[in-house]
Amino acid sequence: MSAYTMKAIRQHEFGGPEVLHYEEAPIPELKTGEVLVRVHAVGINPPDWYLREGYKDLPPDWQPVVEFPLILGSDVSGVVEAVAEDVLGFSIGDEVFGMVRFPSTGESMGYAEYVAAPASDLALKPAGIDHVHAAAVPMAGLTGWQFLIELGHTEANPFQPEAHRPVPLQGKTVLINGAAGGVGHIALQLAKWQGAHVIAVASGKHESFLRMLGADEFIDYTKNTPEDIVSNVDLVLDAVGGPATGRFLRTLKQGGALFPLFMGFADADEAANLGIYVSSAQVRSNGLQLAEIGRLLDAGTVRVAIDSTFPLADARMAHERSADGHIQGKIVLKVV
Ligand SMILES: NC(=O)c1ccc[n+]([C@@H]2O[C@H](COP(=O)([O-])OP(=O)(O)OC[C@H]3O[C@@H](n4cnc5c(N)ncnc54)[C@H](OP(=O)(O)O)[C@@H]3O)[C@@H](O)[C@H]2O)c1
Repeated sequence: MSAYTMKAIRQHEFGGPEVLHYEEAPIPELKTGEVLVRVHAVGINPPDWYLREGYKDLPPDWQPVVEFPLILGSDVSGVVEAVAEDVLGFSIGDEVFGMVRFPSTGESMGYAEYVAAPASDLALKPAGIDHVHAAAVPMAGLTGWQFLIELGHTEANPFQPEAHRPVPLQGKTVLINGAAGGVGHIALQLAKWQGAHVIAVASGKHESFLRMLGADEFIDYTKNTPEDIVSNVDLVLDAVGGPATGRFLRTLKQGGALFPLFMGFADADEAANLGIYVSSAQVRSNGLQLAEIGRLLDAGTVRVAIDSTFPLADARMAHERSADGHIQGKIVLKVV
């Protein structure tokens, strides 16, 4: 490898996991406001494979225009290699983690030995966890934080005209659907931290995992239909989402809230009749919020679970694992 190139996973066209190639790429140049990170681990998120496929399920107007070759990956943990002159707050050798440039696409990204990241997207890595665990946190943690605790930005919401508003959780009953996945298992712990009673919905194999993380009740959706057996809930965070999310309206009390993570909600009239606040949002990079999540990780208040790890070169296999579903925690690529 020359002094100016690195190993990266790149793709030259949209498609299935087979379009991911482990190859040489230029080390990204550092721009104003950026930090060059030697990546140690990269967390995998659903938007990685949506982008790999070209967001083919979105209306054409919404599909991103990208330049190939494309490098995927927002969630990194690593060590600062260089810092732009105008950046304060990070030094060479610092261990950092972050969700880089999400939701924008096309610039330096994470499936690589180096990433040039906006300093504002990064936080110091919690000392008590390793790079694999830190890389597993950013998108899942920030999604939980921005939906449940504080939105933290004023950017337009692509899913609805108004900004998303978290609701108070102290003493409330919160149902989390898809509770064992990346977002679900962290959101569960944030809701417990805020003083909620949490009902976790997942397939049966995740029960002991979710009870260990603090779930007060567990519903195996392969045996029971949650909306048939639950009522009077204050908030449903639906980490599965999509058109079926409206079925949770009948689990909620009047004045309750439904937060689907994935678009497709189509029962606005029914929600209005029931007095239920339905809201979604697009997670956005935020280093300051990540620092707060880092403090919870250091304190052991929030733990992140690793479903599986793969070497960077095997990103294709990691995407295949992701497509198999039933993920418990996060899938992470090890770079160093
Ligand atoms: N709005 C945003 O900004 C934002 C941000 C992050 C993620 N998301 C979206 O949120 C969704 C979840 O993301 P993630 O990273 O948590 O995904 P993930 O890690 O793949 O987890 C999904 C979980 O859902 C469970 N599940 C699947 N079908 C289910 C069902 N019918 N009922 C209950 N649970 C079910 C799966 O396990 P079991 O089936 O074994 O229980 C798995 O644990 C994705 O669609 C993602 O695109 C949106």
